[in-house]
Amino acid sequence: MTKVAPSILSADFCKMAEAVDNLKKWNADIVHCDVMDGVYVPNITFGMPMVKALRKYTDMPLDAHLMITLPEKYVGQFCKAGADIVTFHPEASKDVRGALDEIKAHGKKCGLAVNADQSLDIAIPYMDEIDLLVIMTVQAGFGGQSFKEECLDKVRAADKIRRERGLKFEIEVDGGVCPANIQVVKDAGTDIAVAGSAVFCAENPNLAVKLMQI
Ligand code: DX5
Ligand code: ZN
Repeated sequence: MTKVAPSILSADFCKMAEAVDNLKKWNADIVHCDVMDGVYVPNITFGMPMVKALRKYTDMPLDAHLMITLPEKYVGQFCKAGADIVTFHPEASKDVRGALDEIKAHGKKCGLAVNADQSLDIAIPYMDEIDLLVIMTVQAGFGGQSFKEECLDKVRAADKIRRERGLKFEIEVDGGVCPANIQVVKDAGTDIAVAGSAVFCAENPNLAVKLMQI
């Protein structure tokens, strides 16, 4: 069944504890934390203190998606803050393997994120070392953008590679996912669907989560 990871970027930042309580009530699987530094992406959100606060408050799995430059400088701090999964964009890093190794050394799950304008090629050399491959279906930086269906070709290609090579990484699709497109997202080979606005801006968020857990 597809796991649903609502992104708190689309939550009310003045009521984050309530948002996370709701995610538990709506049976969401993972809390997706979008970290942005205003350099790798033209937006700034939050950093380690938010992850630390969430860790103290909830037992839900925390998935830290680092849209930051030189992530190798911070992956250890996000692990110590309490993230269970830490992913980052390889083209923003000067030491991809070092960053992945550091996340694993902290006993956490590591992953790479392929932005909408990037080729899957940037992740292929590391596919036997990662636990999660994030395929962006929007250009990183903002919630509420339109789904780029053409990016699912990267999901299909990654799914084919992992089957052929017997690799274990999960595939997470991130950006513009909603109940209307979850079937094609799942059929492409996705294991985890990130959904920000489709959950937090839904009339019935509980139903929205259920409709994507297919
Ligand atoms: C975009 C983020 C996504 C985004 C998802 O840079 O990585 O996680 O917040 O939000 P929706 O589902 O609204 O596109
Ligand atoms: Zn994200």
